[in-house]
Amino acid sequence: MKEPELCTNPLRAAFLLRNGKLVAFPTETVYGLGADATNSAAVERLFAIKGRPTNNPLIVHIADIEQLVTVGQDIPELARLLLKQFSPGPITVVVPKRPAIVAAVTAGLQTVGVRIPDELQTRTMLRVAGIPVAAPSANRSGKPSCTTYQSVIEDFGDSIDAILLGAPSGIGIESTVVDCTRQPARMLRPGGISMAQLWRVEPSITTAGQHIELDDNSPGRLHPHYQPRARVHLFADPGEIVPQGRAAYLGLVPHPHPDQFGWHCTYDSVADYARAFYEALREVDRRGLLSVHCQRVALEGTGAALADRLARAAE
Ligand code: TXA
Ligand code: MG
Repeated sequence: MKEPELCTNPLRAAFLLRNGKLVAFPTETVYGLGADATNSAAVERLFAIKGRPTNNPLIVHIADIEQLVTVGQDIPELARLLLKQFSPGPITVVVPKRPAIVAAVTAGLQTVGVRIPDELQTRTMLRVAGIPVAAPSANRSGKPSCTTYQSVIEDFGDSIDAILLGAPSGIGIESTVVDCTRQPARMLRPGGISMAQLWRVEPSITTAGQHIELDDNSPGRLHPHYQPRARVHLFADPGEIVPQGRAAYLGLVPHPHPDQFGWHCTYDSVADYARAFYEALREVDRRGLLSVHCQRVALEGTGAALADRLARAAE
């Protein structure tokens, strides 16, 4: 597969973004695929290349909290509080949007999701570019997200312009999205910041719960997500599974007969499982396995985010 330009210098990546190019970049959650959020041609090309439904809004990435006013307006106090508490880090706040952010970015909504990623090279790129950067996860729509630059190349080749090189993502699951434009504020997507952490800042924040799919304010939740070619099956107890055909196993505890699987992986903690999860789904496909059995995790803490991704991968 042909490669896009591989940048080691964030100034080069910033220059390309300023010139309307599509540049993938590392973050602590997953890799993002960026375009100038004020350039509609660049944003339209991004939707087309990713195969993203145009009714699913993108998150806008900024270098620091000072840049927030270039993206949002009438900023709710809670949005500032959450960014101050958890940024740079895996939190996205939804706030009223400024007109400079083109309509395609927010799928026509009057609100915009904003996030400050915890990756030094990426923040340098954003600061130097001096423009807000719209970026979905850097994967073909519907597939598992990418936590390494090699997986980004696997999905896009040279159909994107460049990748800012970085380490594998340390968290491995996307940011927590909180809609701060409603009263009370509402968590739309579980992620790297847990409900318990959010409640310490504002106890009235609600969860969208099981009906999140029906909520037109969270359009991204309507589409298939995180799915490899292999069939994904979830289990609680390893004793339940009898693998059929060439299957993979991912879990916190080992299967009593690991040799029954074409690939058998165990993780020491929920955090390790989350970090490895998307890349493991991709590896299952690379190995040509037909199914993957994934152990469920408890909904506590950041386990809630992994549980959400497991359920959606298995849909
Ligand atoms: O960790 C992350 O958030 C990664 C990295 C690259 O920053 N980005 C990411 O983007 O996960 P994406 O496009 O895969 O998911 C964005 C989610 C979608 O569920 C979308 O519906 C929601 O954020 N979202 C974005 N803007 C929104 C808005 N204005 N109102 C409600 N939901 C919004
Ligand atoms: Mg995504």
